[in-house]
Amino acid sequence: MESYHLRTDLYQITAVSINDLKIINEIENQLSLNLTTLNFFKRVSLNNNFKFLKLQVNLNIIGFILFSFNKKDCDIISIGVCKNFQKQGYGKKLIEYLKNKICLDIFVEVSKNNKNALIFYKKLKFIEIGLRKKYYKKNNTDAILLKL
Ligand SMILES: CC(C)(COP(=O)(O)OP(=O)(O)OC[C@H]1O[C@@H](n2cnc3c(N)ncnc32)[C@H](O)[C@@H]1OP(=O)(O)O)[C@@H](O)C(=O)NCCC(=O)NCCS
Repeated sequence: MESYHLRTDLYQITAVSINDLKIINEIENQLSLNLTTLNFFKRVSLNNNFKFLKLQVNLNIIGFILFSFNKKDCDIISIGVCKNFQKQGYGKKLIEYLKNKICLDIFVEVSKNNKNALIFYKKLKFIEIGLRKKYYKKNNTDAILLKL
Protein backbone atom coordinates (compact mmCIF):
# COMPACT_ATOMS: atom_id res chain seq x y z
CA MET A 1 0.00 0.00 0.00
CA GLU A 2 1.40 3.44 -0.93
CA SER A 3 1.54 6.02 1.84
CA TYR A 4 -0.84 8.40 0.12
CA HIS A 5 -3.52 5.69 0.38
CA LEU A 6 -3.34 5.80 4.17
CA ARG A 7 -6.59 7.21 5.51
CA THR A 8 -6.07 9.74 8.27
CA ASP A 9 -8.91 8.23 10.32
CA LEU A 10 -7.05 4.91 10.42
CA TYR A 11 -4.06 6.10 12.39
CA GLN A 12 -3.27 8.71 15.03
CA ILE A 13 -0.08 10.47 16.03
CA THR A 14 -0.06 11.67 19.65
CA ALA A 15 2.39 12.15 22.53
CA VAL A 16 3.96 9.11 24.17
CA SER A 17 2.94 8.79 27.84
CA ILE A 18 4.74 6.99 30.61
CA ASN A 19 2.25 4.12 30.28
CA ASP A 20 3.37 3.57 26.68
CA LEU A 21 7.02 3.10 27.57
CA LYS A 22 6.83 -0.69 27.90
CA ILE A 23 5.42 -1.06 24.37
CA ILE A 24 7.88 1.50 22.98
CA ASN A 25 10.70 -0.57 24.56
CA GLU A 26 9.29 -3.75 22.95
CA ILE A 27 9.35 -2.06 19.53
CA GLU A 28 12.86 -0.71 20.16
CA ASN A 29 13.96 -4.25 21.10
CA GLN A 30 12.43 -5.71 17.96
CA LEU A 31 14.23 -3.10 15.84
CA SER A 32 17.56 -3.37 17.76
CA LEU A 33 17.34 0.32 18.69
CA ASN A 34 18.65 1.80 21.95
CA LEU A 35 16.05 1.42 24.69
CA THR A 36 14.42 4.55 26.09
CA THR A 37 14.97 4.32 29.84
CA LEU A 38 12.44 5.62 32.34
CA ASN A 39 14.93 8.27 33.47
CA PHE A 40 15.56 9.50 29.95
CA PHE A 41 11.82 9.52 29.24
CA LYS A 42 11.17 11.65 32.32
CA ARG A 43 13.88 14.14 31.34
CA VAL A 44 12.56 14.38 27.80
CA SER A 45 8.98 14.87 28.99
CA LEU A 46 10.01 17.83 31.15
CA ASN A 47 11.95 19.50 28.34
CA ASN A 48 9.95 21.62 25.90
CA ASN A 49 12.61 21.16 23.23
CA PHE A 50 11.90 17.45 22.89
CA LYS A 51 8.91 15.63 21.50
CA PHE A 52 8.21 11.92 21.70
CA LEU A 53 5.30 10.83 19.51
CA LYS A 54 3.61 7.50 18.96
CA LEU A 55 1.74 6.32 15.88
CA GLN A 56 -1.29 4.13 16.58
CA VAL A 57 -3.32 1.95 14.26
CA ASN A 58 -6.56 0.66 15.78
CA LEU A 59 -5.27 1.99 19.11
CA ASN A 60 -2.17 -0.23 18.92
CA ILE A 61 1.19 1.55 18.99
CA ILE A 62 3.07 0.51 15.85
CA GLY A 63 5.63 3.29 15.54
CA PHE A 64 7.24 6.29 17.21
CA ILE A 65 9.52 9.24 16.65
CA LEU A 66 11.65 11.13 19.13
CA PHE A 67 13.16 14.47 18.15
CA SER A 68 14.64 17.61 19.63
CA PHE A 69 14.27 21.10 18.21
CA ASN A 70 15.20 24.72 18.77
CA LYS A 71 14.47 27.95 16.88
CA LYS A 72 16.81 26.95 14.05
CA ASP A 73 16.54 23.25 13.43
CA CYS A 74 15.29 19.85 14.45
CA ASP A 75 17.16 16.58 15.12
CA ILE A 76 15.60 13.16 14.79
CA ILE A 77 16.91 11.11 17.71
CA SER A 78 15.01 7.92 17.05
CA ILE A 79 12.31 6.62 14.73
CA GLY A 80 10.87 3.16 14.40
CA VAL A 81 7.98 1.27 12.84
CA CYS A 82 7.16 -2.33 13.89
CA LYS A 83 8.43 -4.87 11.38
CA ASN A 84 4.90 -6.05 10.44
CA PHE A 85 3.92 -2.50 9.53
CA GLN A 86 7.03 -1.41 7.66
CA LYS A 87 6.93 -0.30 4.02
CA GLN A 88 3.27 0.73 4.33
CA GLY A 89 3.86 4.46 4.57
CA TYR A 90 3.83 4.90 8.37
CA GLY A 91 7.44 6.06 8.68
CA LYS A 92 6.73 8.64 5.99
CA LYS A 93 3.67 9.81 7.94
CA LEU A 94 5.83 10.38 11.03
CA ILE A 95 8.30 12.49 9.03
CA GLU A 96 5.49 14.40 7.30
CA TYR A 97 3.93 15.13 10.69
CA LEU A 98 7.26 16.51 11.85
CA LYS A 99 7.64 18.58 8.68
CA ASN A 100 4.19 20.10 9.10
CA LYS A 101 4.52 20.86 12.81
CA ILE A 102 8.11 22.06 12.82
CA CYS A 103 8.95 24.19 9.80
CA LEU A 104 12.70 23.91 10.24
CA ASP A 105 15.63 22.10 8.73
CA ILE A 106 15.48 18.47 9.87
CA PHE A 107 18.72 16.58 10.55
CA VAL A 108 19.35 12.92 11.27
CA GLU A 109 22.44 10.74 11.74
CA VAL A 110 22.23 7.25 10.32
CA SER A 111 24.74 4.44 10.60
CA LYS A 112 26.49 3.78 7.31
CA ASN A 113 25.45 0.14 7.82
CA ASN A 114 21.73 0.91 8.15
CA LYS A 115 21.02 0.60 4.43
CA ASN A 116 17.22 0.38 4.88
CA ALA A 117 17.06 3.63 6.85
CA LEU A 118 19.30 5.35 4.28
CA ILE A 119 16.97 4.27 1.46
CA PHE A 120 14.00 5.47 3.52
CA TYR A 121 15.45 8.94 4.19
CA LYS A 122 16.62 9.39 0.61
CA LYS A 123 13.14 8.45 -0.66
CA LEU A 124 11.83 11.24 1.54
CA LYS A 125 14.29 13.67 -0.09
CA PHE A 126 16.81 13.93 2.72
CA ILE A 127 20.25 14.77 1.32
CA GLU A 128 23.65 13.67 2.58
CA ILE A 129 25.56 16.60 4.03
CA GLY A 130 28.34 14.97 6.02
CA LEU A 131 30.09 11.97 7.44
CA ARG A 132 30.85 11.51 11.12
CA LYS A 133 33.75 9.11 11.43
CA LYS A 134 33.44 6.42 14.13
CA TYR A 135 30.31 8.15 15.46
CA TYR A 136 28.88 5.00 17.04
CA LYS A 137 31.30 4.08 19.81
CA LYS A 138 29.84 0.57 20.25
CA ASN A 139 31.21 -0.71 16.92
CA ASN A 140 33.20 2.26 15.62
CA THR A 141 30.77 2.73 12.74
CA ASP A 142 30.59 5.94 10.74
CA ALA A 143 27.39 7.99 10.67
CA ILE A 144 26.01 9.73 7.64
CA LEU A 145 24.46 13.11 8.40
CA LEU A 146 21.33 13.82 6.40
CA LYS A 147 19.27 16.97 6.06
CA LEU A 148 15.75 17.69 4.83
C1 LIG B 1 13.29 3.35 8.75
C2 LIG B 1 11.82 3.03 9.07
C3 LIG B 1 11.35 3.93 10.21
C4 LIG B 1 10.97 3.28 7.82
O1 LIG B 1 9.60 3.12 8.14
P1 LIG B 1 8.53 2.55 7.11
O2 LIG B 1 7.19 2.73 7.70
O3 LIG B 1 8.92 1.18 6.69
O4 LIG B 1 8.75 3.53 5.87
P2 LIG B 1 7.66 3.94 4.75
O5 LIG B 1 6.80 2.76 4.46
O6 LIG B 1 6.96 5.19 5.15
O7 LIG B 1 8.61 4.21 3.51
C5 LIG B 1 8.74 5.46 2.83
C6 LIG B 1 9.42 5.18 1.52
O8 LIG B 1 10.69 4.55 1.74
C7 LIG B 1 10.73 3.26 1.12
N1 LIG B 1 11.40 2.31 2.01
C8 LIG B 1 11.29 2.23 3.35
N2 LIG B 1 12.03 1.19 3.81
C9 LIG B 1 12.59 0.63 2.71
C10 LIG B 1 13.45 -0.50 2.51
N3 LIG B 1 13.85 -1.24 3.55
N4 LIG B 1 13.82 -0.81 1.25
C11 LIG B 1 13.41 -0.08 0.19
N5 LIG B 1 12.58 0.99 0.32
C12 LIG B 1 12.19 1.34 1.54
C13 LIG B 1 9.27 2.86 0.94
O9 LIG B 1 9.12 1.93 -0.09
C14 LIG B 1 8.62 4.19 0.67
O10 LIG B 1 8.84 4.56 -0.68
P3 LIG B 1 7.62 5.11 -1.59
O11 LIG B 1 7.19 6.41 -0.92
O12 LIG B 1 8.24 5.29 -2.92
O13 LIG B 1 6.56 4.08 -1.53
C15 LIG B 1 11.64 1.52 9.45
O14 LIG B 1 12.20 0.71 8.44
C16 LIG B 1 12.30 1.14 10.77
O15 LIG B 1 11.69 1.26 11.83
N6 LIG B 1 13.56 0.67 10.72
C17 LIG B 1 14.26 0.18 11.93
C18 LIG B 1 14.66 1.30 12.83
C19 LIG B 1 15.61 2.28 12.15
O16 LIG B 1 16.52 1.89 11.43
N7 LIG B 1 15.37 3.57 12.40
C20 LIG B 1 16.17 4.64 11.81
C21 LIG B 1 17.34 4.92 12.65
S1 LIG B 1 18.05 6.48 12.21
